[in-house]
Amino acid sequence: MVDLSVDLKGIRFANPVAMASGNAGYGFEYQAVSGFSNRDVGAVFLKGTTLEPKLGNKPERVMESPCGLLNSIGLQNPGAHAVIADYLPKLDLSQTQFIINVSGSSVEEYAEVVRLFDQTDLPAIEVNISCPNVKKGGAAFGNDPEMAARVVEACRASTTKPLIVKLSPNQTDIAEGARRVIDAGADILSAINTMMGMQIDIDSATPTLGNNQGGLSGPAIKPIALLKVHQVYQVAKQYDVPIIGLGGIASAEDAIEFILAGASMVAIGTAIAKDPLLVKKVSKGVERYMKRHGYRSVNEMTGRLTLNTDTVLCG
Ligand SMILES: Cc1cc2nc3c(=O)[nH]c(=O)nc-3n(C[C@H](O)[C@H](O)[C@H](O)COP(=O)(O)O)c2cc1C
Repeated sequence: MVDLSVDLKGIRFANPVAMASGNAGYGFEYQAVSGFSNRDVGAVFLKGTTLEPKLGNKPERVMESPCGLLNSIGLQNPGAHAVIADYLPKLDLSQTQFIINVSGSSVEEYAEVVRLFDQTDLPAIEVNISCPNVKKGGAAFGNDPEMAARVVEACRASTTKPLIVKLSPNQTDIAEGARRVIDAGADILSAINTMMGMQIDIDSATPTLGNNQGGLSGPAIKPIALLKVHQVYQVAKQYDVPIIGLGGIASAEDAIEFILAGASMVAIGTAIAKDPLLVKKVSKGVERYMKRHGYRSVNEMTGRLTLNTDTVLCG
């Protein structure tokens, strides 16, 4: 018998494959798609939400690049109060675990949004620390372990719900970043968010994105994400902190790689746009792999990667 369910810090997920924040709206948009059910999804991470409504960045906001997507949405969202009053009531919380994703432009804003969602029935709160700190000239909180720790400390003080902290791959040492946010109170980590990139229209000699730069996602970042998850795992396992792995997952084989590298659960973002039923297919594929390899639980697979020995540090 194969058990696909995972338990992360007391939250039970029916299967280990989730929909990533920013790619699943507020949990009800995909319900119109034939064959889609939130019951087939391990968890839905809702869109990044700020205190006040945000219109987002000027266009273009999304551009394709080989094997990836560049986006600079600018956190368009209706604001925490509207999400709580108008959006959450549309969700059937018995279908899956819906998790809010919190963004902010100051430590105080993060803490306030977390406090508001602490009052809701959602099981956990994910904090996106890759947002720009307006008081520090727009440098992303998540790229500076000190600033990241301050955000997480403030969020920790604002909720008793499990706190998931989403790590930025754009920081110099993601393992050190992980250690700092765990010390500051993170219960679960998710890794990774998008990698900053740019694309240029050579006729106009201007960036294709209205915001000049944006986050790269999709298969292009998968090898980077796998390495980062594995580096984070080396730290997180010492604290018994589980990892939700993501970045470029588009198949069951991709998901299994992340689990072997140290993830207890995975999430899919960009690839859902092409196939909204992908999460279901990936979880079925993970189940088949577990049967073939004699794994009874996802937990048994986590971190089962055996590294080669006698290696050198450079590529
Ligand atoms: C269009 C778009 C919007 C996103 N919005 C958010 C967001 O609001 N909050 C967040 O933490 N991550 C956001 N992300 C990042 C994804 O959740 C995910 O970490 C990243 O895209 C890597 O996974 P993927 O390659 O499977 O897409 C967004 C990604 C995309 C493509």
